[in-house]
Amino acid sequence: MSQSYNRGLIEDFGRWREFTAGMWAWIFHKFTGWVLVGYLFTHIAVLSTALTGEAAYTTTIQALESLLVVRILEVGLLAVAVFHILNGLRLLLVDLGVGLEAQDKSFYASLVLTGAIVVASVPTFVAEVL
Ligand code: HEM
Repeated sequence: MSQSYNRGLIEDFGRWREFTAGMWAWIFHKFTGWVLVGYLFTHIAVLSTALTGEAAYTTTIQALESLLVVRILEVGLLAVAVFHILNGLRLLLVDLGVGLEAQDKSFYASLVLTGAIVVASVPTFVAEVL
């Protein structure tokens, strides 16, 4: 006879404290993947509306890049992209059967590496607007 488990309501977000590393990796990967898709469409919209002439393009880019909030959003985008890439490569290795016993460790490693790359890039991103 098959066993059944009472896993509780998945919609109950109050259970986040019970989440394991694998659950967080799944949530972060979904979140970052869909943020990247959202950014892609925003990027195309901004660039295509700025393409009414060379001067309009330069003015739009300069106006956006002069805002601190845009630079901060760029750091956020970098964090999202780097995590998605590193965790994505980790998932591809896991799919190939590589590192099956160290999935938690490799997830933490991708988080730490993402943090290090993002922190190291902050001075470049906020240069000239502070
Ligand atoms: C080197 C770059 C990238 C790598 C290695 C990568 C890797 C992956 C992998 C392995 C998955 C499947 C995860 C699973 O097994 O569930 C995935 C999902 C996904 N990726 Fe990427 N990806 C990359 C870049 C991107 C970019 C640029 C975008 C968006 C423009 C993107 C958007 C998504 C989305 C929306 C999903 C589905 C998330 C879901 O489960 O709902 N990825 N990625």
